[in-house]
Amino acid sequence: MADEPLAELEQTPVIAAQIFGDRLPLAEQYASVLSEEGVLRGLIGPREVPQLWTRHLLNCAVLSEVIDADASVVDIGSGAGFPGIPLAITRPDLSITLIDPLLRRTTFLEEIVEALALDNVTVVRGRAEEKAVLKMVEPADVVTSRAVAPLERLARWSAPLIRGGGRLVALKGRSAADEIARDWEKVLRMGIRDLSVEQCGTILETPTTLIVGKRIESGRDARAARKAKRRS
Ligand SMILES: C[S@@+](CC[C@H](N)C(=O)[O-])C[C@H]1O[C@@H](n2cnc3c(N)ncnc32)[C@H](O)[C@@H]1O
Repeated sequence: MADEPLAELEQTPVIAAQIFGDRLPLAEQYASVLSEEGVLRGLIGPREVPQLWTRHLLNCAVLSEVIDADASVVDIGSGAGFPGIPLAITRPDLSITLIDPLLRRTTFLEEIVEALALDNVTVVRGRAEEKAVLKMVEPADVVTSRAVAPLERLARWSAPLIRGGGRLVALKGRSAADEIARDWEKVLRMGIRDLSVEQCGTILETPTTLIVGKRIESGRDARAARKAKRRS
């Protein structure tokens, strides 16, 4: 079978400079690696290449709008790096842990992190719900995900990785409101409350839709926070 030519990466959209600022060259490098190596290694489909910026890099980078300065972030099921890598590029102040169970994907993620010198990113291979992962990864201020699982399962995997008072931030499509209506009671039992649909990236043609929820602070979390405050 003759090799099919690789689809062409779209030109860097003008708005990308506004979103990535002086880190735009890193975003361009990531887009370029994804459009070649990423396709050859089966990390993204060839049909994604012409819409890499609009459907993937920009939509993920705008998540930055809803994350506080210096926050810790765990990204579950990062795959080829979404949303974790665009977020790490726009926000060097964040410390980001990318979790994925597949070696092929974590190898690629480690290579990208090294190539782009993203020293605010750690890659962990494993399932988010695995004991070994929970032992290794500190509960974070924010747990992100995109296209990983329906809300109930996502909340079950995310909750133990969110610190008390921290947030779940899941990139979702049009199903967001229906997922909340269907799953909120089960999600509440997992310790995540105040679920809402939010939008970020309203400067984009298609803004990013999020499900946001807050991790309930357990009595133990509250006591530990009070103790730490007294000590400081
Ligand atoms: C459809 S892909 C989405 C990848 C990326 N988030 C994106 O939006 O392009 C789902 C990813 O979730 C990962 N995944 C599946 N189950 C998981 C689990 N239990 N814990 C962490 N990651 C998981 C898969 O390996 C895969 O990379």
